[in-house]
Amino acid sequence: LWTAGHIINDSIQAVRAKVGSDAVILGLSGGVDSSVVAALLHKAIGTQLTCVFVDTGLLRLHEGDQVMAIFAEHLGVKVIRVNAESRYLAALAGVSDPEQKRKVIGNLFVDIFDEEAAKLTDARWLAQGTIYPDVIESAGAKSGKAHLIKSHHNVGGLPENMTLKLVEPLRELFKDEVRKIGLELGLPAEMVFRHPFPGPGLGVRILGEVKKSYADLLRQADAIFIEELYRHDLYHKVSQAFAVFLPVKSVGVMGDGRRYDYVIAIRAVETIDFMTARWAHLPYEFLDLISRRIINEVAGISRVTYDISGKPPATIEWE
Ligand code: XMP
Repeated sequence: LWTAGHIINDSIQAVRAKVGSDAVILGLSGGVDSSVVAALLHKAIGTQLTCVFVDTGLLRLHEGDQVMAIFAEHLGVKVIRVNAESRYLAALAGVSDPEQKRKVIGNLFVDIFDEEAAKLTDARWLAQGTIYPDVIESAGAKSGKAHLIKSHHNVGGLPENMTLKLVEPLRELFKDEVRKIGLELGLPAEMVFRHPFPGPGLGVRILGEVKKSYADLLRQADAIFIEELYRHDLYHKVSQAFAVFLPVKSVGVMGDGRRYDYVIAIRAVETIDFMTARWAHLPYEFLDLISRRIINEVAGISRVTYDISGKPPATIEWE
């Protein structure tokens, strides 16, 4: 009989049998899968678990603080927060090609995670939020060691000299099952049912070179959009929604003054599998509100556009 409670109990027994009294390390991203692993392992092995949360500076508004509030303060999980914004910005300076940005971001994550893991000298296990669809996908796409890591290049790969053994308690579960378990373990519904967020984060939602000033503007615009989607009961009617920063300037007027500021694109899609998607037909009144709020409240943005491109041919992300 499948109930979240049974699965949790079985997983707890299995994890305890596997790792014994060893220390376990987990890269916590704030996404659903790694969050559920953190909550599950915390329940199974308590302080034997240490999570490493890398704040890349490419996260959404207040996201780093929220992750810490939920895990460290609310659940009592041991979390090391690494404030790596300046390292990411330095590594990304002058890099504008999307795939190159992904590589830089992924490699830096591995470096930072590796540094933290090296400090935890008693760690014997690496926990990962691999779920069943990841297993199938990477079995088809890759062979060898690559199948052990999450396919979405969130994590660029495991360090070559890695001596940690893997523990992957969600390996047999589908996403909806992972969500049910997350709720049962006490994770907030907002976290469990949040839209997907790419591993490279805002790094691929700022077109071209990434700059802190761009990321700050984008975070504000994105937060307004998401807040209004919730307020109008539209958040769960779309599959993914976000703002994109366009580093081009456009002319506007405000009061007596002339503005020459950046452009924000708003994207919302409906999809089942993220392989194809249609742009969400959000109400005009709603789009009007978003545009007004962003232009009035985000100093530095003078124009808002709505992306009406389907996938294919356009991808969901702009990069
Ligand atoms: P695209 O843009 O390819 O996106 O239509 C399909 C889904 O994948 C997400 N996405 C990524 N996720 N690392 C990730 O973890 C990435 O580099 C990446 N690129 C796209 C995207 O947000 C959408 O849900």
